[in-house]
Amino acid sequence: MLCFKYSLPSPRFLVKPSIHTPRKSATMVAAEDPESFFATAPPLREADAVAARIQEFIARNSDNAGGGGRGRPVVCVTSGGTTVPLEQRCVRYIDNFSSGHRGAASTEYFLKAGYAVIFLHRRGSCQPYCRFLPDDSFLKVLDVNEESKVQVAVSHETLVKKSIGDYSKAMECGSLLKVPFTTIFEYLQLLRMVATSVSSVGLRGMFYLAAAVSDFYVPWDSMAKHKIQSAGGPLEMRLSQVPKMLSVLRNQWAPLAFCISFKLETDSDILVQKAGTALTKYKMNIVVANLLATYKDEVIIVTNGENSTIRRCSNDEDLEEQIIRLLTQKHSKYIYGSQMGATRV
Ligand code: PMT
Repeated sequence: MLCFKYSLPSPRFLVKPSIHTPRKSATMVAAEDPESFFATAPPLREADAVAARIQEFIARNSDNAGGGGRGRPVVCVTSGGTTVPLEQRCVRYIDNFSSGHRGAASTEYFLKAGYAVIFLHRRGSCQPYCRFLPDDSFLKVLDVNEESKVQVAVSHETLVKKSIGDYSKAMECGSLLKVPFTTIFEYLQLLRMVATSVSSVGLRGMFYLAAAVSDFYVPWDSMAKHKIQSAGGPLEMRLSQVPKMLSVLRNQWAPLAFCISFKLETDSDILVQKAGTALTKYKMNIVVANLLATYKDEVIIVTNGENSTIRRCSNDEDLEEQIIRLLTQKHSKYIYGSQMGATRV
């Protein structure tokens, strides 16, 4: 899903409606191949330092660190939407729908299940253990007491205490690594970095791809350098197709990984069929299918065998708790099966 946004002064919430007018049109052009996508993408900032952090995290947590690892299964959770800049010195960008709530909640349950989590997330999106914070103002969580000291409001005390405890535990154990992205260029380069790092130590790690990834973009070398001027009249844009990286992930970057992709649709008539296509076309182990209207309440787990629906019973429940319970069981089976020479889940 695409929305056009302006990044000034607050990139996430300002929309200039005129860009939706029918006078402006967007044309899509054929899919690029992955090599040319990466060859023309602006290089990641501090790529070597980020790669070193990822590799150190994997070595410290996994079994495959020359005996020094902690033997935790590793999962990469992707979360939040990628942006597509329209200018190199970016004022406007196209955004994807995703608050990051699913990725943040899932990360908490993976940590609880004993996983080491690489949380590849959109900057400014929902973070693990902070999901309960009010959207409009975190000041609602605070109070001023009789001695004029700031304290946590009684209404939020239990949740804040629990979250601080859980977060501190994850950080002390060193089982959570946060890696931020904003643009589609950053996201795909980081995903490749994580996948090849996991793969290079022979891990059968999990990829839980909940991020909402742009399907169309403006290649860096054909992008306007400076702010596009409105004085030039209606804007015509030509968008190239982002290559689907799921097959590259599966076939080249991390062939041993246990891959879960998500399928988001708005039309219930095509959801399961599209998820099934993704499962076979990209050789995913599982596809989690969800509808925009109900994604917080139910998902369909699409596998090579029988599909199953997971529903939450009340608003107090996290659907992610059930999803992660099921996926961690299937992942263990996959690792065990691989050791025994089988790969089906
Ligand atoms: O963050 P929340 O607000 O809680 O919302 C959660 C969610 C609805 C965003 C999440 O549950 C979800 O469905 N995420 C996937 C959304 C999405 O991008 O769907 P898609 O059908 O466009 O893509 C399917 C899969 O292909 C995704 O796993 C994506 O990572 C992958 N993809 C997409 C485009 C692309 N060029 N390359 C890809 O590999």
